[in-house]
Amino acid sequence: MSSRPVFLSAAEVQDHLRSSSLLIPPLETALANFSSGPEGGVVQPVRTVVPVAKHSGFLGVMPAYSAAEDALTTKLVTFYEGHSSTSAVPSHQATVLLFQPNNGSLLAVMDGNVITAKRTAAVSAIATKFLKPPNSEVLCILGAGVQAYSHYEIFTEQFFFKEVRIWNRTKENAEKFVNSVPGEVRVCSSVQEAVTGADVIITVTMATEPILFGEWVKPGAHINAIGASRPDWRELDDELMKQAVLYVDSQEAALKESGDVLLSGAEIFAELGEVVKGVKPAHCEKTTVFKSLGMAVEDMVAAKLVYDSWSSGK
Ligand SMILES: NC(=O)c1ccc[n+]([C@@H]2O[C@H](COP(=O)([O-])OP(=O)(O)OC[C@H]3O[C@@H](n4cnc5c(N)ncnc54)[C@H](OP(=O)(O)O)[C@@H]3O)[C@@H](O)[C@H]2O)c1
Repeated sequence: MSSRPVFLSAAEVQDHLRSSSLLIPPLETALANFSSGPEGGVVQPVRTVVPVAKHSGFLGVMPAYSAAEDALTTKLVTFYEGHSSTSAVPSHQATVLLFQPNNGSLLAVMDGNVITAKRTAAVSAIATKFLKPPNSEVLCILGAGVQAYSHYEIFTEQFFFKEVRIWNRTKENAEKFVNSVPGEVRVCSSVQEAVTGADVIITVTMATEPILFGEWVKPGAHINAIGASRPDWRELDDELMKQAVLYVDSQEAALKESGDVLLSGAEIFAELGEVVKGVKPAHCEKTTVFKSLGMAVEDMVAAKLVYDSWSSGK
């Protein structure tokens, strides 16, 4: 008889995932396995997204199995437009279910918000490690919501930047960000001011039209484009998409879900997993974009790490 599944709250998940940097080695392995095709042993269909049109929302279902990890999970995530980053209800809410792969029993139901925040930022850190220009000095974050905080945390852990800048649609939320994180961050009044001369740029907004324009971006800069997760949403303009060498997490998903890729007609150069494996080059001397949409296998890696840590402390 199977025992009852454990429920892990956001605070408990946070406790077992204190440093996002812990996620980097297993995520690199999972990205490489994912990009190895059938021999990598990752089964992960492109997510199913159900529009909740009446309320400008979406429900995404994200199952994954990895033979290497022998882990089976599904994330359920809702995301709603029209939120402010200070709304009482977050724009994105997620739950991860972890199953026992040998018999299908449900082992755990865990909060997926912390997992989503941390695994996304950890994957951006991996992309940045490979693709940032040598001697990167200036980091710029566009957006001041949940992902802005998780990206700042791991980027300041993993890299050294002489200067960090932030721009946000609502300036007060950028000021709140600056007052709540350790270290010095400069609030900028426009995207152009924030990105001019920046070596690494992170876009973490719910924008549906381009906010970042190629003409403002320093040649050779690296951009982690995290928002615009729908086929008709944009964060980056055509010029930037076309002038950069384009890396994605999943080619199949990018060609179905990414407005920045589909509407610009930009050509995908490689999956990040191929760079991690060493089968495609990291063109860190050129302007690069990593278009992240988020993958179920990333949630799986994080959920397994949390569950294993919880189990070892029982
Ligand atoms: N790639 C992945 O794996 C992945 C995973 C999770 C989330 N995401 C995406 O990352 C983005 C940020 O997520 P989050 O959880 O940080 O959201 P969040 O906490 O709700 O923050 C949203 C941010 O976007 C800003 N914003 C909202 N509408 C905007 C607009 N029209 N133009 C410019 N800025 C706008 C908000 O500014 P205000 O302060 O003015 O409200 C806030 O800074 C979303 O697009 C989300 O779908 C990607």
